[in-house]
Amino acid sequence: MAELLLSDPESPSETSPLWITAVLGDDLFLDIRDLHRATGYFSYDPGFTCTGSCLSGITFIDGPKGVCLYRGFAVPELVESAEALEVAYLLLVGDKPSTQQYMQFRREIQQHMLVHEKVKAMFSNFTINAHPMAIMVAVIGALSCIFSELDPLNEMHRWLACTRLIAKVPVLSCWAYKTSIGQPMMYPRADLSFAENFLYMMFATPMEEYKVNPVAARAINAFMILHMDHEQNASTSTVRIAGSSQANPYACIAAGVASLWGPAHGGANEAVIKMLEEIGSAENVPTFVNDVKAKKEGVRLMGFGHRVYKNYDPRAKVMKGLVTQVLKELGIDDPLLKVAQELEKVALNDEYFVQRKLYPNVDYYSGIMLRALGIPTSMFTVMFAMSRTVGWVSQWNEMVAEGQMRIGRPRQLYVGPKQRTWRDAKGANGEAAGDGYQGLMKVQPRRSSSFSKRVPDVPSAYKAESTVPSSPEPSPHAEADSEDEALADAFWTSCKAAASAPAPPPPRPRPPRTSARLRKVPLGLSAAPRSTIDSPASVPSLRDESADDRGSVVA
Ligand SMILES: CC(C)(COP(=O)(O)OP(=O)(O)OC[C@H]1O[C@@H](n2cnc3c(N)ncnc32)[C@H](O)[C@@H]1OP(=O)(O)O)[C@@H](O)C(=O)NCCC(=O)NCCS
Repeated sequence: MAELLLSDPESPSETSPLWITAVLGDDLFLDIRDLHRATGYFSYDPGFTCTGSCLSGITFIDGPKGVCLYRGFAVPELVESAEALEVAYLLLVGDKPSTQQYMQFRREIQQHMLVHEKVKAMFSNFTINAHPMAIMVAVIGALSCIFSELDPLNEMHRWLACTRLIAKVPVLSCWAYKTSIGQPMMYPRADLSFAENFLYMMFATPMEEYKVNPVAARAINAFMILHMDHEQNASTSTVRIAGSSQANPYACIAAGVASLWGPAHGGANEAVIKMLEEIGSAENVPTFVNDVKAKKEGVRLMGFGHRVYKNYDPRAKVMKGLVTQVLKELGIDDPLLKVAQELEKVALNDEYFVQRKLYPNVDYYSGIMLRALGIPTSMFTVMFAMSRTVGWVSQWNEMVAEGQMRIGRPRQLYVGPKQRTWRDAKGANGEAAGDGYQGLMKVQPRRSSSFSKRVPDVPSAYKAESTVPSSPEPSPHAEADSEDEALADAFWTSCKAAASAPAPPPPRPRPPRTSARLRKVPLGLSAAPRSTIDSPASVPSLRDESADDRGSVVA
């Protein structure tokens, strides 16, 4: 049984009921699960910058040191030495497979690569210009129609769902591309590796023999491994939250794809290429960097910065080496590489980026490599989704297998109108009530920024009607002419006032904590040692039981 040790950082020899340290790294966590019950307070943490949502033994990131491990193995080492499917097994099952285990896993994945013809038929209904990510959301979600009778609490059902998703998502990805260019969709081949199959389904046509370029296959293998998991990012958290309601896993993965699509997450690789094309050449870099620093509307250095890494993303380091090598081996001279290298050099020497600890992330160089392989920009995020599917299913499986199924349900800080009566209310534009939907449509959204801002967007109603006493100190932003800043100021002032307001009602008596719960947090419900929870031995073989008895659970 893995355990989390609790200790007070002030006096490490004594245990404290609140501090939790993880197995690796210097991060300290505060156990606030009983905060409200004990104190009457909730915590406010938009973007979950300070909140751990689960226990996980899959990926470890040390942001300040720039370390990323999958099940304890350094990702750069895996890129050098492992096959993508071996790493998929590692993430899903928890350990390096033996040769026999790997061969069996490979066979299982190959068997699941066939996609139900009903799902294939869906592709004919998408318009030719549909973004492949839009198609992916639809077709992965549609798998839940085929595999609807699935019990997430059944280990065998989970294994089938995970392996099917790992197998089918690459096929669906390539079919999404083929649909977008109007070419026939290619079926996977049993004699090819995972990475080779991807290239074959992307670029082969029924007209002539297609030979997979080994340089390209190696590059795709590396790309897949680099993107397979990255602990609790937006899309993985989406999958976990969706799964916490015991929803169908295919639908949960479709939710993950949707979350990944945006430019602040998986869409960044596509956005990097657009940005580099707009910059055009190395001499335009300084002007661009100045625009970024001035926070000019819509200008950001895409592929830079990360919520967790405050150092060079180790995956970006690998990608940087890989892109140079692949371009050299393929004999390609991409002018965007020079722009990217110059931009990185200028940014890494600029105080703005140094101060904020902004370094290239994995998306910075990956697009240039994919371009060199002939992969269109619109497919970049799809490739990310295809690789990340391995992490999503592993995280979903871990969550369910280890009983971390408390439904995800954050709180909110309500800043809307006070209670009022519909009959007496005026519409937002002063018109009489009763204009219903028409009136609603006239209310304009207040902000359309595509990236998060540090300040919360607090409606003016809150500012005007707040009952929280205002701070006696003059606000440092009193003269701010920006409405956002003024609102944010009002909000933070009220927070400060709330903090200095009379103490909240005395806490309700705190239930005695059992030391077992505080001192040891089991990673699983099972009494089995952690290493066996997901171990190959306990993962049922597809052939162990008559899978066909389960109706539509089976492909
Ligand atoms: C990844 C990302 C969304 C993380 O966001 P975050 O953790 O919320 O970081 P913040 O937005 O709080 O950034 C902190 C500061 O750095 C700045 N910053 C962060 N990333 C930046 C970037 N790429 N370009 C310019 N400034 C950036 C912010 O403006 C903020 O500055 P401030 O203190 O003056 O307000 C953000 O770095 C980003 O948008 N990067 C570009 C998109 C990208 O590459 N995404 C892929 C991630 S793998």
